[in-house]
Amino acid sequence: MKNLFLNDVVPTTKIDLPFQHGIELFVRREDLLHPEVSGNKFRKLKYNVEAAVGQGYKQLLTFGGAYSNHIAATAAAGRILGIQTIGVIRGEEIAACYLDNPTLKKATEDGMRFKFVTRTEYRTKDSAVFLRQLEEEFGHFYLVPEGGTNEEAIKGTEEILQEGDATYDYVCCAVGTGGTIAGIINSSFAHQIIMGFPVLKGDFLQEEIKKYAAKENWMLQTDYHFGGYAKYNADLLDFIREFKQKTGILLDPIYTGKLLFGIFDLIKQGQFKNNSKILAIHTGGLQGWNEKIK
Ligand SMILES: Cc1ncc(COP(=O)(O)O)c(C=O)c1O
Repeated sequence: MKNLFLNDVVPTTKIDLPFQHGIELFVRREDLLHPEVSGNKFRKLKYNVEAAVGQGYKQLLTFGGAYSNHIAATAAAGRILGIQTIGVIRGEEIAACYLDNPTLKKATEDGMRFKFVTRTEYRTKDSAVFLRQLEEEFGHFYLVPEGGTNEEAIKGTEEILQEGDATYDYVCCAVGTGGTIAGIINSSFAHQIIMGFPVLKGDFLQEEIKKYAAKENWMLQTDYHFGGYAKYNADLLDFIREFKQKTGILLDPIYTGKLLFGIFDLIKQGQFKNNSKILAIHTGGLQGWNEKIK
């Protein structure tokens, strides 16, 4: 089998801007891991795919919304590795027009089959009854949860930080389901603070992260969700455009744009220790944004 996950070393870019308080900011370019399976999706799928293949599964089934980076990455990984993929998509109404959606169109071209379900059904997706119905319809499959977060995924996200990263005082990342930050926490160094920037509203994340995180050197910055998941405003889009102009690095308005906006704001407020070094993790998720943000 072709090994999609072999090359996992990416560059780190120093952001050459005059920051206050002697701060230095660096971006780990996980978005460059692979053109189609990038960032935290690469990390989360790596050991899940290994487990699926090792256990003799011929197909992967997973869940997501219509614009999900996880759906896009799973479909691409399936095509590249020759594994069947099935996407259970939130929103029954999308069935009528899914080829108008760039994420689902590309996933279709990658060979993914879909099941579109109502939002009510989607909420029951972890129940034994629902999973049994899916098995009856599609046959035996390896299950990857929504957002890709499970034990295997954490093993992968633990590989984001490397030995040499002890030099950073803070490591910052965007938080959706919490799997990415949990892996980073587990492989962090004792003197570091791991700072998560949730992209959605709600207090449930603390508990989700604690399920997988083995250390306590972390905190969440909850003021940068911009109204909730996939919500954004003109200030955020302006920031993303300006960041691209000044650094050449493209961010997206759902995850990494909110992360870097938050970091810049906290630097301005003097919330990081003077003269500290910050590492921001670019977790990818750019499918669909290359053309829209110029
Ligand atoms: C680009 C990107 N960054 C960050 C995250 C957040 O990761 P997690 O769900 O592990 O918290 C996601 C979510 O899936 C994502 O697509």
